[in-house]
Amino acid sequence: MRVLFLCSEFEGVIKTGGLADACRGLALQMQKLGHDVKVLIPRYGSLYAVPVEESWSSVYFALGGHAQGCAVRQVVNAEVPLLLIEHHDYFGRPRPYDDGQQAYADNALRFAFFCKAALQFCVDTGWIPDLIHGHDWQTGIAAYYLKQYYQQALPGTKMLFTIHNGAYQQALSAQDRAQTEVYSSDSIACSSMLALGLAHADKVNTVSKGYASELLSEPAANGLAALYQSRLADFSGILNGCDYEQWDPATDIYLSSNYSQSELEGKQACKERMRQRYHLELSTAPLFVLVSRITEQKGFAYLLPALEQWLSDADAQVLMMGTGDQMYAGRLRALNEKFPGRFVFVEGFDEALSHQLEAAGDFFLMPSLFEPCGLNQIYSLRYGTVPLVRLTGGLKDTVRDLTDSEPTGVGFVEPTMQALQEALNRAVTLYQQKTLYKEIQQRGMQQRFGWAESALQYQMLYQQLKP
Ligand code: ADP
Ligand code: GLC
Repeated sequence: MRVLFLCSEFEGVIKTGGLADACRGLALQMQKLGHDVKVLIPRYGSLYAVPVEESWSSVYFALGGHAQGCAVRQVVNAEVPLLLIEHHDYFGRPRPYDDGQQAYADNALRFAFFCKAALQFCVDTGWIPDLIHGHDWQTGIAAYYLKQYYQQALPGTKMLFTIHNGAYQQALSAQDRAQTEVYSSDSIACSSMLALGLAHADKVNTVSKGYASELLSEPAANGLAALYQSRLADFSGILNGCDYEQWDPATDIYLSSNYSQSELEGKQACKERMRQRYHLELSTAPLFVLVSRITEQKGFAYLLPALEQWLSDADAQVLMMGTGDQMYAGRLRALNEKFPGRFVFVEGFDEALSHQLEAAGDFFLMPSLFEPCGLNQIYSLRYGTVPLVRLTGGLKDTVRDLTDSEPTGVGFVEPTMQALQEALNRAVTLYQQKTLYKEIQQRGMQQRFGWAESALQYQMLYQQLKP
C-alpha cells in the first residue's frame, strides 16, 4: 500500500520524546514489509542544516481565506523517503512547539498548515496514498480536512490516527477554528486538534492496550471519554516496538564497554564510568537512573519529595538526565546540593548519554502518572536495568512486578510518596539478593518488544482500510 506518514518528529532528525522513536521505528518497519512509505515532517529551524535534494516541489492552497504556499524538500539519503514541509514563518523557529518556556500561540494554525500542505502535496504530485497515517494532535486536523475538503481530489485515501499522548490536545479557540477552516456543530469533536482526529479518522489507535482502555473513561481521557467511546468499534491499542539494532548493549556504539545477558561484566564497567564522570561516591549501593522529559506526566510532583525523604536514610544513588519544567528542574538542582555524591541531575538531553545511563543503572525509575506506552522501560529491560515503574498504561503491559511468577521489574500502583518509597525499598532489598536480582535482570533482557510484531498489527489495520 501507499502510506503517507504525517508526523511532527522523527528520530535522528528531530526529537523531543518517544514520538520520534516510534514514528521512525514504525515507518522503517512498514517499508520493510513492502509498503511504499513516505514520511512528511515540518522543516523546523534546526533542520535547515540537514542536506536536501536540489530539486523540490512547491505546493499552493487556501487556508483561512488566504492563499498559502510552501516548498517540499526531500532529505538526501534518508532510510525512508523523508520530506520536509518548508515555510519559514511557521516552522523556521528553532524548536518545534515552544520557545523553551511557552507553547507558540499559533500552534493550531502551524500544524493545520502542515496538514493541508501535505494533502495538497499528494494531489499536486499525483502520489495518491491509500492511507495517511497521522501521529498525535499535530496531525488530527488532516482527518477533518480529508473528509471535508479532499473527498473529490483524494477519494480513496483513508486515515489512521495514532494517539501517542492523549493529554496533549491543542485546544481550538473560535479564532483558531476560523483560521483553520473548521466548521462543525459538534462542539466536542472540534474542541481540539486531537478531538478532530479522533472524531474524523477512519480508524484510531493508541500505543498500548492498557492505555486504550484507560482512555475510555475520565480523568485519563481528559474530557474526551464520550468521544473515545463513540469510536469504540474503530479504536484499538497497539504496543510500540523497540529498535533492537539501536538498543543492543552488545553492539551499542555509545557504551564504553559492551555486554550481553551472558556476559554482564561490561555493565559494571559502564556503571563505574558514569559514577566517575558524575562524581558519585564509589559504593556498593544500587544506582537508580532516570532519563525523562520533565513534566507532570512523569510523576515529578511526588517523585521529588519522595526521593528527598528517602535519600536521607536509604543507601542508594540516583543519576538522572532531563529537560522541561523549570519549577521541577530547580528542585532537582536543589537535590544536587543536598545529596552530593549520591544524587546527580544532568540538565539537558543527549542521545549518547541516554544510552550510557540505560547501561549504567541497576534500576530505571518510571513513576509516571500515566504512560501511553513508554519506551525507556523497554530499553531498560534490554539493558538489564531493572525497571521500577508505576503500573499504568503501557508500563503495566510491559513490566511484571516481583509478585508475578516471572517478574521483570518492580511495580507499584498508587501515585503516592509512600507507595513509591515502598517500591524503592523493595528494589534495594532485591538488589541485596544477588541471585534473584540477576535472574530478574536476565529475564528482562530476554523480553522482546520488536517493531516486527507491532507493525504486523498495524498492517492488519491498514488492510481493513484498503480501498
Ligand atoms: P515520552 O515519549 O513520554 O517522553 P518514552 O519513554 O516513550 O517517553 O520515550 C522517551 C524517549 O525520548 C527516549 O528515547 C528518551 O531517551 C527520549 N527523551 C527523554 N527525554 C528527552 C528530552 N528531554 N528530549 C529529547 N528526548 C528525550
Ligand atoms: C508519548 C508517550 C509515551 C510513548 C511515546 C511514543 O510521548 O508519552 O508513553 O511511548 O509517545 O509512542
